[in-house]
Amino acid sequence: MADNFFRLDGKVAIVTGGGQGIGEAICRRLAAAGAKIAVFDLSQANAEKVAKSLGGAAVVGSVTSETDIARVVKETEAKLGPIDIIVNNAGITGKAGKTWELEREVMVNVLDVNVVGPFLLCKAILPGMMVRKYGRIVNIASVAGKEGNPTMGPYSASKAAIIALTKSMAKEVVGHGDITVNSISPAVIHTPILDGLPQSTVDYMVSRIPMGRTGKPEEVASLVHFLVSGEASFTTAQCYDISGGRSTY
Ligand SMILES: NC(=O)c1ccc[n+]([C@@H]2O[C@H](COP(=O)([O-])OP(=O)(O)OC[C@H]3O[C@@H](n4cnc5c(N)ncnc54)[C@H](O)[C@@H]3O)[C@@H](O)[C@H]2O)c1
Repeated sequence: MADNFFRLDGKVAIVTGGGQGIGEAICRRLAAAGAKIAVFDLSQANAEKVAKSLGGAAVVGSVTSETDIARVVKETEAKLGPIDIIVNNAGITGKAGKTWELEREVMVNVLDVNVVGPFLLCKAILPGMMVRKYGRIVNIASVAGKEGNPTMGPYSASKAAIIALTKSMAKEVVGHGDITVNSISPAVIHTPILDGLPQSTVDYMVSRIPMGRTGKPEEVASLVHFLVSGEASFTTAQCYDISGGRSTY
């Protein structure tokens, strides 16, 4: 029986894209529960701002670079200790457009950040988790990965891919201790990522949500908090919706 009521004291969490938006809310929530946070972001200024306010570590680089990841993991372990929790949150939408209007680079870049990045970070940290026999991984997918948003083909494909990668990894680590791997699929959440999308695309996404509103980063952070807690120990390979009722499967 769990006895910590979701406390994360002593746990070390690395949150990619932690410098703003949903990632920042996750950093703040996990820190409030007692975790030591490594804020991993491309933006040094944002990573430092969030890390400083939480007494955590700013680790700067791109999730697409294996060299950056090796350095960031080393820096995190040196400053905070071995990593118990990974939240693969960094993501980009890429340019909006119909498939025949988009360049190859759009697809490649979106897959690189949204799928290859989480793959590389887990590849770097999972062996240590298996030795320590403990770990919690949450990958931020999207309802786009279940439904396929028009004019967001590369993004939707990348989020379907991370849902499947989550399930594969979850099954691979069974037998190596208390390690779980889950994903979550938010519908549209009010963050700066929306600034890069046409208003018509945002309106379309909100119109599909039965609750008729955007979600808040703090609402996403509370679901992540449960999934990275010691208490979520019989829950793995799942994709949880946080979508105001948009996706019902
Ligand atoms: N906001 C939404 O409506 C929504 C809905 C569903 C899913 N999501 C997903 O949630 C996650 C966070 O979204 P958000 O709205 O907070 O985005 P955001 O654009 O506000 O923040 C993303 C953060 O990731 C960082 N980042 C981008 N590329 C990176 C890289 N290569 N390496 C390291 N850091 C990088 C950025 O610097 C930024 O700080 C994304 O994976 C997104 O796809 C968002």
